[in-house]
Amino acid sequence: MATVTPVVDDEYLKEIEKARRDLRGVIYSKNCAPIMLRLAWHDAGTYDAKTKTGGPNGSIRNEDELNHSSNNGLKIAVVMCEEVKARHKKITYADLYQLAGVVAVEVTGGPIIDFVPGRKDSLKSPAEGRLPDAKLGVKHLKDIFYRMGLSDKDIVALSGGHTLGRAHLDRSGFEGPWTKEPLKFDNSYFVELLKGESVGLLKLPTDKALMEDPMFCRYVELYAKDEDAFFRDYAASHKKLSELGFTTPPKEAAKSTGILAQSAVGVAVAAAVMILGYFYEVNRRVKA
Ligand code: HEM
Repeated sequence: MATVTPVVDDEYLKEIEKARRDLRGVIYSKNCAPIMLRLAWHDAGTYDAKTKTGGPNGSIRNEDELNHSSNNGLKIAVVMCEEVKARHKKITYADLYQLAGVVAVEVTGGPIIDFVPGRKDSLKSPAEGRLPDAKLGVKHLKDIFYRMGLSDKDIVALSGGHTLGRAHLDRSGFEGPWTKEPLKFDNSYFVELLKGESVGLLKLPTDKALMEDPMFCRYVELYAKDEDAFFRDYAASHKKLSELGFTTPPKEAAKSTGILAQSAVGVAVAAAVMILGYFYEVNRRVKA
């Protein structure tokens, strides 16, 4: 089966809330917010708006996709999510990975991101090369994010995700954290970026590119001085990223499933009344 479509009914919504609590515990106790956020982003960031392929569909768990070089190290996060999935079998991998990303931001002090469940699972992985290459610059960043249907503002806000975590030499060829407190979600990524190379924190070529483009730079400066603006825009851009190619309004679907169920009961009752009425009439005529 290539895709799994969840039925977002009350039971599903309850399971999502249980998984959310479970993820809070796992992420807190294992200090794994950064890699969970990276997993959510790498599952979603393969989206191609033109062909409507890739995106947050859980396909990153496929051996093939997990072995793409940009995903080095993410097996750790996939395995941790598998434990959560075993306790909440009903929810799709696609929802689980995106929920993990949202919870990772929340438990490290970042903004609350609206989460709408109902993503389909897919086992079809896109070809390698859809995620950004950290060694490239402005044009590449724009090409990659525009392909997903995202904007300059989204690029800068989402790059602020590097407020968490670090690079590992054996995974990406880069080393070290972007900020002094890599387990705290705040606007320090932008503050450090404006300070330049001297502070000894990591700056990927793609991070530096944010200082080279006037459209990007406007937002870097804004987010460095106004954390509320960063949190507001980050929450909006993260939601967009987590919903690329996702169209089902699950609550509506759940409601209409309810309406359908109600009308099915109504039709059955009406049919039963008609049948009983028919037998009563036949019986009455036979007796007469
Ligand atoms: C803009 C283009 C981006 C590039 C080129 C890029 C590149 C990288 C690289 C090279 C690493 C180091 C991986 C390692 O060695 O472990 C990394 C880590 C990370 N990235 Fe990005 N990234 C980008 C955007 C994003 C976005 C949009 C998010 C989330 C919203 C994000 C979240 C993270 C996190 C949290 C880590 C740390 C993972 C850990 O500590 O294990 N990145 N990224």
